[in-house]
Order: sequence, then structure tokens, then C-alpha cells
Amino acid sequence: MKYDLQDLIAMAAAARDKAYAPYSHFRVGAALLTAGGRVYTGCNIENASYGLTVCAERVALFQAVAAGEREFTALAVVGGDLEACFPCGACRQVLAEFAPDLEVITGRPGGSIHRRRLRELLPDTFTLK
Ligand code: THU
Repeated sequence: MKYDLQDLIAMAAAARDKAYAPYSHFRVGAALLTAGGRVYTGCNIENASYGLTVCAERVALFQAVAAGEREFTALAVVGGDLEACFPCGACRQVLAEFAPDLEVITGRPGGSIHRRRLRELLPDTFTLK
């Protein structure tokens, strides 16, 4: 199955419905497309110990890596009702470990799509490779 960018945004929005965000009430969904054409999704999962919260982007990436995936081409993020919700700094670093050239997109379902390369979002990434 081929997914276009609007499909990925729609899948991120569907994942957002699963968000566990009783503290911030800010619900985020992410959909990560692999080089092989599969999509893994994630939502933010908060915790009473606030700092233990995990963002939607990392949940999607970790689901994919745990399933044996290593190569990713695009990530869609839908955050609350925002026009654009790009990944936080921590998620940028974690995504860069696997996909420094990742295409990162964000928007609202059916709306305009904002596109960036992860390299633009996190220039001079720290790496040991
Ligand atoms: N959050 C994400 O899931 N992704 C982001 O890129 C930014 C923030 C979550 C964490 C927390 O549950 C809520 O949004 C408010 O910060």
C-alpha cells in the first residue's frame, strides 16, 4: 500500500485519539512511514510523575524499532488542534539516531501540510557514528 502525506496526517490524527494526556490535555499523534512502506503510530503517554511522559513521536519510533524496523522515510505529527506541531527537541535527537534525512510533516487533517527535513529541525546533530 502506498501512503500519501494526507494519509499519514490522517493516521497520526487517528493515533491522537489514543493519547493518554490527563495532565496537559494536549493530545498528540504520530505516524512513521518505513522505507518498506509500513506505518507505525504512536500517541503521547503522560504520567503522574510528569517527567516520565513519553511523546507520540518516540512511542511511534520505539514501536517500529521493537518490530525490527531501522529505516524511515517520513513522520507525520498532529498535535491538539494546532496548525503545526513539530517534534520537541528530545524527539528530534532520538529520530536522528535512525533517520537524519527523515521528512517531518505536520498539519491538521484535510488542511495544509508543513514539511521540513529533520536536518533542518536539528542541524549539527550529535552523533557517534
Ligand atoms: N508532546 C508530544 O507528544 N510531542 C511533541 O512533539 C511535543 C509534546 C506531548 C508531551 C505532553 O504529553 C504534551 O504533549 C504536552 O507537552
